[in-house]
Amino acid sequence: AAAEKGGYSTFMEKEIYEQPHAVGDTLLGRTDDTGRLVLDDMSISEEQLRDVDRIIIVACGTAAYAGMVAKYAIEHWTRIPVEVSLAHEFRYSDPIASERTLVVSISQSGETMDTLMAVKHAHELGAMTLSICNTHGSTIPRESDAVLYTHAGPEIAVASTKAFLAQITACYILGLYLAQLRGGTFADDAQAVMKELHEIPAKLEELLGNMDRVSEIARFMADTRSVLFLGRNVGFPVALEGALKLKELAYIHAEGFAAGELKHGPIALIEPGQPVFIVVPGPGTPHELHKKVVSNIQEIRARGARTLVIAEDGDEDVVPFADEVIRVPKTAPLLAPLLSVVPLQVFALQLSTAKGLDVDQPRNLAKSVTVE
Ligand code: G6P
Repeated sequence: AAAEKGGYSTFMEKEIYEQPHAVGDTLLGRTDDTGRLVLDDMSISEEQLRDVDRIIIVACGTAAYAGMVAKYAIEHWTRIPVEVSLAHEFRYSDPIASERTLVVSISQSGETMDTLMAVKHAHELGAMTLSICNTHGSTIPRESDAVLYTHAGPEIAVASTKAFLAQITACYILGLYLAQLRGGTFADDAQAVMKELHEIPAKLEELLGNMDRVSEIARFMADTRSVLFLGRNVGFPVALEGALKLKELAYIHAEGFAAGELKHGPIALIEPGQPVFIVVPGPGTPHELHKKVVSNIQEIRARGARTLVIAEDGDEDVVPFADEVIRVPKTAPLLAPLLSVVPLQVFALQLSTAKGLDVDQPRNLAKSVTVE
């Protein structure tokens, strides 16, 4: 078993360090000689895809958070409306779909019953179905019209890490593919993003070489009872994922919030010493979101929060209000989750380890939930 872990003490740690490959391999072979994107198993024609007027993403758990990231990116790149539905909520909500609706399922295992049932229901409604999946030959891709495989490799640890990054990458590929089909400036913009996307694996390597401080913070916090996570735009699902990892692995009460929502309720939770992670949008993010999140940090710090700030390299604005600054390399604002989630994964892993818990097999959880 030790050999299978490749020198790491847990599968989860190994899988975290495999993330540059998970992203790189998922990007591999996606362009033809003319530089145009190609998808795997597309039995949906280009004409049909050009006609798509609505996308519904169905997924559970971590995969649903990948879907939330995808919503921001795909809508921005294609102007096609995207909604994200937890698969178990989708089916019984009397959902609206037509033959011009593309229902995209996201699943690492391809066997999650809730997600499978959502896909079947989408079929009954006459929608096109596309599966983003990490497991060849599994049930969900077989039940779908088209498949885009993530190439993360087998994921053993129950808590998903590298599959999550590969899912986000696959969603970007899908969005950029749809943008390319739209042509014109959509296609030009897509090419530019694709370039940035190809730089992510090297940036992940750099980031993973820098996890000492976040590991140390996690070890110091082994007896913490509650941690909050704030993020905005694509940083919001990152905050939700950071909180989920901590619940799953360390059994700590953790909650993720949209930073803009803070003043509408959650700020009441802030008391002296409360640890809060803040995922800060890069200074280049449109609509001054960077400035707005920096002022959120200031507000909670003034109320005694212990601020653990995840910020882009070179972002000095956060420094006066941060108890800790965790640096991530710069990238395009919509691609940032591929980097900013990594310290949160490492934090949960190390805190769980410090508590002496079973990182790879947390209590009460299954890797793949094949019952409804
Ligand atoms: C389970 C796992 C989660 C995973 C979710 C969806 O609950 O514990 O880590 O995110 O299922 O799994 P899937 O295989 O469909 O991505």
